[in-house]
Amino acid sequence: MMGVGKAIAHSNIALAKYWGKADAVRNLTAVPSLSLTLAALRTVTTVRFDDSLAQDQLSLAGESVQGRPLLRVSKLLDSVRAQVGVTTRARVESVNDFPTAAGLASSASGFAALAMAATRAAGLELPLAQVSALARAASASAARSLFGGYVSLGARAESAERVAPGAAFPLEMLVAVTVSGAKETASTDGMGHTRDTSPYYAAWVESAPAVYEQVRAAVLAADFEALGPAVEHSALAMHASMLAARPALIYFAPATLRVMERVRAFRKSGGRAYFTMDAGPHVKVLVEPSAAAELEFELSKLEGVTQVLRSAAGPDASWVEP
Ligand code: PMV
Repeated sequence: MMGVGKAIAHSNIALAKYWGKADAVRNLTAVPSLSLTLAALRTVTTVRFDDSLAQDQLSLAGESVQGRPLLRVSKLLDSVRAQVGVTTRARVESVNDFPTAAGLASSASGFAALAMAATRAAGLELPLAQVSALARAASASAARSLFGGYVSLGARAESAERVAPGAAFPLEMLVAVTVSGAKETASTDGMGHTRDTSPYYAAWVESAPAVYEQVRAAVLAADFEALGPAVEHSALAMHASMLAARPALIYFAPATLRVMERVRAFRKSGGRAYFTMDAGPHVKVLVEPSAAAELEFELSKLEGVTQVLRSAAGPDASWVEP
């Protein structure tokens, strides 16, 4: 068997966050989430099944990678192999076209592109929802990257689904990349640690569905003033549960707070923009296209902000000619 498949998937940023697993073995999430897929942050992945290989091989941006990332890739390939009944190993090459040195999480676009490329290489042409389920088993946020625009992943859901196309509610996302000395904790480990030690974890799981519903309703109504405060609340409530873990999971760097402060000042002066952040120090800011350039410039001047990426809503993941 010598199949090859190549695919492109875009990163996504959750507007309603998930943090925590309902089922760690099957990798099902404890709370529903809703994200925006980003056009400007893409991963391109090629999978080549090759009978001559003794083991799967992984290269990220041209560098050979072993250890945990390779194990996660092999696990996804194993489910594809099981579906078609083969044991052939594969060579996987993955490249992000956004700056990876920035330390931006790329597992969402990475596993979405891998699931697309691997199924194609194995001769399967599955509907996006089934590819989403495959990606979700590797990284729950990756389930959402199969679809463009606004996408949801229900609590305990097997796969993500589109809520609305990006064009129905044209917002942009600024990604303020901040410097940080701290080593980041892998999200799955961080979620387990929060569940096991944070007295606020139960409150987070209990309150997240209602916030998700607010975010979803605001997206469907294209109501930015309803959406923005719910988005900020979702991120801060998630971080509150992490901050109360023992020891605490602190993803805030000094520049993280500077960006948040600047966004709040922007609102005070009549602008409309709202922040969110994930398991890292960078801040993502949701803004209307007409205000994006001005805020991008303001954020880029802040101490500790190394760069600001700007993105509109992105499309579905897709196959390309290898
Ligand atoms: O599914 P993972 O391991 O990529 O975890 C993602 C967790 C957050 O980014 C913090 C929230 C989210 O819903 O994307």
